[in-house]
Amino acid sequence: MMVSPDLFIMGGSAAVTAFTLWHWRRLDGVKQPAPAAASMPVDLAPAASIVTDAAQLALMWPALKLGSWETGFPNVTAATLTESGMLVEVQMLGGQSLKDWNNDATRDALAHYFAVPEVVVSSPSPGFVHLELRTVDTLAVSAPVTDLLAYGVDLEAVPVGVTEDHDVWQLRVLYGHILLAGATGSGKGSVLWSLLNGVGPAIKAGLVDVRIADPKGGAEFGRGEDRLFTRFAVDAASILAMLAEAVQEMDDRLARMRQAGIRKLVPSVDEPLVLVMIDEAASLSSYADRDEREEFRRLTGLLLSKGRAAAVSVVAALQDPSKETMPNRQLFPVRIGLRLDEPTQTAMVHGQGARDRGARCDEISEHTPGVGYVGEDGTTAFVRVRAYWVTDNDADRIVEQYSPAQPDLSPQADYSGFDPDDLGDEQGPLAA
Ligand SMILES: Nc1ncnc2c1ncn2[C@@H]1O[C@H](COP(=O)(O)OP(=O)(O)OP(=O)(O)O)[C@@H](O)[C@H]1O
Ligand SMILES: [Mg+2]
Repeated sequence: MMVSPDLFIMGGSAAVTAFTLWHWRRLDGVKQPAPAAASMPVDLAPAASIVTDAAQLALMWPALKLGSWETGFPNVTAATLTESGMLVEVQMLGGQSLKDWNNDATRDALAHYFAVPEVVVSSPSPGFVHLELRTVDTLAVSAPVTDLLAYGVDLEAVPVGVTEDHDVWQLRVLYGHILLAGATGSGKGSVLWSLLNGVGPAIKAGLVDVRIADPKGGAEFGRGEDRLFTRFAVDAASILAMLAEAVQEMDDRLARMRQAGIRKLVPSVDEPLVLVMIDEAASLSSYADRDEREEFRRLTGLLLSKGRAAAVSVVAALQDPSKETMPNRQLFPVRIGLRLDEPTQTAMVHGQGARDRGARCDEISEHTPGVGYVGEDGTTAFVRVRAYWVTDNDADRIVEQYSPAQPDLSPQADYSGFDPDDLGDEQGPLAA
């Protein structure tokens, strides 16, 4: 989202012959182009002076090995101030591809040359690259989780945070599975609790049945045991039993659906969305004994491959995505990578080449827990997001507010005339 209109745009083609063609041009809709220097944020001043000066560009491209006097220079076609810094659109030189621009060394060199902390490179269309000079992180401040009851719940678009463009970050819970990876302290808990907050009203209404596997021994989700969650398992044996039960239910549903000719189950109070949340999934896929490991893989594999149509969804969180610990990533239509320690882990979550397409989970700061990159089937781009911040108090509130009414265990005789304050020593109207 742009906070200020396009500042300047330059036309021109192959640089060597084009110098005389370079000129200032007013963009449509911009009544009064801002005088570039005056309104320029101070940390973008060096960059602004470079991109608006052909002579400086002619020095920069050879220095960065992105052009030369012999082969010609890339062509800056537009530069715009944005909320996070400056967006520079560049027409690549013939023969160049995104790879020439979007590699760690070149991005780093661009950042130094423009004197900004970070340059993000993407290719909006063939032949062009976008250089995003980042001076402001729009996700630096986290949004608190809030009560969403008033908005109703769309189980296919559950609000769990914000995107870097200030949109609401929504996750598909119904007919989808979600993989969530992040190092310790990266904010997995916030994502999971934001998700619970987002589906909360539907839990309360009996349309979502949440089952938790919390191998950390209940530390993270214990407060919702027997209240927000219908199942709560903390050790390998009970987690496997819980998964086996979900598989059985899924198979029963699928059999019924086949008979009735239903392709997709719409959750109802009788047949709610079964949401299986597995925190620290790695502890089962790698640390449990061999038989348990196999059984865990088999059961989650079944839920992941057949559960969607039957409204059985899996959300699996893990710290260390590796060959050993990772369930099959292809089976998760939505994959979230929070801060990760290694570039290879980003590839485990988002696939080979994901870093080059912008998902750099290993570069997320420790100071911004909840920040991550989301990849979804059907899109190649990644969205940078931050989960709502859920404190312990918020989690208590979520449990309090959205736990379904408990079965009525109160005495069944008629005590409606009983007034506990009435000690029989005064006359007065009875509290009914
Ligand atoms: N969106 C957020 N904004 C601000 N702080 C956050 C956010 N998400 C998490 N935090 C804080 O970061 C810390 C770690 O978060 P969290 O417990 O969710 O991480 P985790 O990935 O679940 O870690 P672990 O793997 O150790 O369980 C907590 O103190 C939490 O309050
Ligand atoms: Mg956690």
